Amino acid sequence: MPTVMITGASRGIGLEFVRQYATAGWDVIACARDPVRATDLADLRRRSGGTVAIEPLDVTHTQQIEWIAGKYAETAIDVLLNNAGDIGPRGASRENLHRQFFGSLDYEAWRRVIEVNVLAPVRIAETFAEHVARSTQKKMIFLSSTVGSIAEGKPPVFAYASSKAMLNKCVSMIASATGAQGIIAAAVCPGHVKTDLGGAGATLEARDSVHALRKLIAQMGPADSGSFTRYDGTRIAW
Ligand SMILES: NC(=O)c1ccc[n+]([C@@H]2O[C@H](COP(=O)([O-])OP(=O)(O)OC[C@H]3O[C@@H](n4cnc5c(N)ncnc54)[C@H](OP(=O)(O)O)[C@@H]3O)[C@@H](O)[C@H]2O)c1
Repeated sequence: MPTVMITGASRGIGLEFVRQYATAGWDVIACARDPVRATDLADLRRRSGGTVAIEPLDVTHTQQIEWIAGKYAETAIDVLLNNAGDIGPRGASRENLHRQFFGSLDYEAWRRVIEVNVLAPVRIAETFAEHVARSTQKKMIFLSSTVGSIAEGKPPVFAYASSKAMLNKCVSMIASATGAQGIIAAAVCPGHVKTDLGGAGATLEARDSVHALRKLIAQMGPADSGSFTRYDGTRIAW
């Protein structure tokens, strides 16, 4: 069976990816910042019959990334899902959102968002390139957002939107850098999904977004490397 590695698997879209890939019979390496608190993920592992492994990973911790890479040194990873993400300052009733608006920007918070949303997925891609290259499917997928599109993304949230725009550029460069190894690197937008990040007013259930994303990822071939695609298969203008 193929193997998928998923970051940010404790909740939201990442947890749903674990559920659906495990149900489909894949071997799943589910990475969570704090496995003790990830009780839903622990439940999935218990019911998986040994196909779901949980690894502790704060994506900003280089040593943890390298430790997992070493532990799975002989494993072929068919799909590496860089899913963990940080929306930046916002708060339950959006009382902190102004810290992402021009005129009252919080530069420290912005720096942390870039650390999680850009530097971490690039570092993980770099560290696991060999694991992916030796697999059958050879896919690196990055959870981006239409908010990061210069053409389409309108919300004026500096930290989150700029981090996803920067991620998109990095995905395009990773695609060029890993093309010779046969790796397909692509950015995807899951749509507006009902999670802690997406909020209760979002339009999509995680189960439907992830179902569509899994179909999209399964259909991706070399021509899709360096692309930016919505969950429903439509291309997103950079
Ligand atoms: N939901 C949407 O509408 C939407 C739209 C566009 C794009 N996206 C993207 O989709 C991805 C998943 O979003 P989501 O809606 O599922 O968000 P979520 O419900 O807020 O979950 C975020 C996940 O990322 C993890 N995470 C955050 N910082 C981390 C770190 N430093 N190390 C390890 N894990 C970390 C969280 O772990 P903890 O539980 O430990 O905090 C959690 O598992 C993100 O990249 C997001 O930008 C979402």
